[in-house]
Amino acid sequence: MQRKWWHGKVAYQIYPKSFKDSNGDGIGDLRGIIEKLDYLKELGIDIIWLSPVYQSPFVDQGYDISDYYAIDPSFGTMEDMEELVAEAKKRDMYIIMDLVVNHCSDKHEWFQKAVADPFGKYGKYFYIKEGKNGNPPCNWRAYFGGSVWEKLPGYDNLFYLHMFAKEQPDLNWENPEVREEIYKMIRWWLEKGIAGFRIDAIINIKKDLRFQDFPADREDGTCSAGVMLQHAQGIHEFLQEMKREAFAPYEAFTIGELFDFRREELERYIGEEGCFESIFDFSTHMIGTSGKGWYDFQKVTPDAYRDTVYESKRLTQDTALMANIIENHDEPRGVSRYIPEGDVNEISKKMLAGVMMMTHGLPFLYQGQEIGMENKRFESIDEVDDINTIDEYRVALKNGLCEAEALQVISDISRDNARTPMQWSDEIHAGFTSGTPWLKENPNYCKINVREQSTREDSVLSFYQQLTHLRKDPEYSECIVYGKQIPLIENEKNLMAFYRKGEKKTLLVIANYQSGERKISITDAVKKLVVANYGTDTVQVEQNADETSLFLRGYEFIVAEV
Ligand code: GLC
Ligand code: CA
Repeated sequence: MQRKWWHGKVAYQIYPKSFKDSNGDGIGDLRGIIEKLDYLKELGIDIIWLSPVYQSPFVDQGYDISDYYAIDPSFGTMEDMEELVAEAKKRDMYIIMDLVVNHCSDKHEWFQKAVADPFGKYGKYFYIKEGKNGNPPCNWRAYFGGSVWEKLPGYDNLFYLHMFAKEQPDLNWENPEVREEIYKMIRWWLEKGIAGFRIDAIINIKKDLRFQDFPADREDGTCSAGVMLQHAQGIHEFLQEMKREAFAPYEAFTIGELFDFRREELERYIGEEGCFESIFDFSTHMIGTSGKGWYDFQKVTPDAYRDTVYESKRLTQDTALMANIIENHDEPRGVSRYIPEGDVNEISKKMLAGVMMMTHGLPFLYQGQEIGMENKRFESIDEVDDINTIDEYRVALKNGLCEAEALQVISDISRDNARTPMQWSDEIHAGFTSGTPWLKENPNYCKINVREQSTREDSVLSFYQQLTHLRKDPEYSECIVYGKQIPLIENEKNLMAFYRKGEKKTLLVIANYQSGERKISITDAVKKLVVANYGTDTVQVEQNADETSLFLRGYEFIVAEV
C-alpha cells in the first residue's frame, strides 16, 4: 500500500452548531472552535472535519446549502473561517470541510431560477420531470420519508427530484455545466488552504435515468430510493472527473460518505487509482438495521460487533485505510449503542475506545466521544429538532407503536443524541453557551464533562489521549497504522482478540466484551503490557513455559506486545 501523509493521523468531527458558542446566542460558532483548538491538539487530533458551515436555511442543519461561497452568519464570517484555517496550520492541524453536492437548498439561487423558468438554463441544473396526470413520475421514496418527487411550485404536472427533504433538490450531475460549477467551488475552497473534504451522500449523484417504478417495499406503494441506486450505472466517471478537475491538483484529502456501494467496487473508490483517499467504515452501524424503519431495528450484540469488525477489515485492509467511527452526527452515541444497557460505565467506554483506536484504519472521533457522551432520553417529540427523527417517529406510530414506545425508539436511534451541546463543564448548559442552547443539553453534563475528566488520569478522556499518543509513538506507530489485523480468537462469546502484525512488532488486542470475568489462554508470551483500561499494573497474567493465562475482569481491555 502506498503510504500517505494522513495514515498515521487521528481525525475528529466537529458539529459546529453544538460544539462551542462564543457569543451567547446559543449556537456554536467558528470562534468557539478556534478557542478549543489547543484542547484538540492536546487530545492528539490532527485532522478536523467541520460539518457544514455554509449559508443555509437549516432545514437539514446545514446539509441544505443556499450559498457555497458564504459562511452562515450564525457561525461567523469568512474572516473567522480564514483565521480558523490559519490557527489550525500553526498547530500542524488540518481542516477539512463538508462537501454537500448531491443537492443544494431550495433557497439556492440556482433552484430559485429553475422555479422561475423550468425550461431555461437553470431548469437543467435539477431533475425536473413531468408527472403522470399530476402524480409523481415514479414510486421512489426519499430518505426522510414521502416521495422523492415534489411539485414544482406553480405547476400541476412538473416535479423535481429530492433524495432527502423536499427543501434539498438534487443537482443534475448529468449536466456538465453543473459539474463545472461544483469543481470551481471546490477549487475555490482548496485555494483558501483547507486540506480537503468529507464528501456527503455522494453515492446518490448517479441516478437510474429511466426514472421507473421498482417493486414497492412499503404499504404506501413506494420503494426506497436506495434500491434505485443499485441500478444506476456510471458513477465512477463523475467521481474520476471530480478527482482530476478539482481534488488532484491540490492533493486534497478526500473521504467519502458511502452507503450502499457494491463491495466489488471498493478498489475503484479507495484503491491506488480510486477516486477518494478514504471512506467511512459504516459496517458496524449497519448491524440490526431494517428497511422498515428505526422501530424495527435490533440491538447490537457484542458478537455481532466483533464479527462485523473482523469481516470488514478482512475485506478492506489490503486495499486502503478506512475511516473508523463509533458515532457521528447522524448516529446515536456509540457507547449507548454498542454497550449493553446497564453496562455503560467508564471501563466499558474505554474498552470500546480501545477497540476502535486499535482497529486498522484512520480513527475518526466525533465531538463528545472522547468523554463518553451518552444518548439522551427524549421525553416528548417536541424536544426533537431533526427532520429524520420526526419522520421515523411517525413511521413508528403508523406501525402500531404507542407514543411511549415510539419515544423509546427515537431515544435509542435519533441523530439528535449526537447533536446535544458538547459537555465542557458542569456549569449551566454544560459550559457550551452563556445563552440558551439551540438544542437542550443532556442533563448528565453535571457528571460527564471535559473539565472534570481532564483532572483525572483514569478518565475516558485521558484514555483516549493515551491511545492517540500510542498511535504516534515511534515504537508502535508502524504496527498500529499498517499492521495486518488478524483475529486470534474468533468464536468465543463476548470476546475480541486480534493481532496487529507490523513489520517489527506484534500487538495483541484483547477485549472482554461482557460484565462477567473470564480466563483465556494463549500461546504467545507477553513481552510488555502497553495499554489497559484498568491500568497495566493491575492486569493479571500468568506466564508458563508454553502458555500464557490472562484473567480478565468485566470489559477489561488490554494491548500487549507479544
Ligand atoms: C448525509 C449527512 C446527513 C444529511 C444527509 C443529507 O448523510 O451526513 O446529516 O442529512 O447527508 O445531506
Ligand atoms: Ca454563537
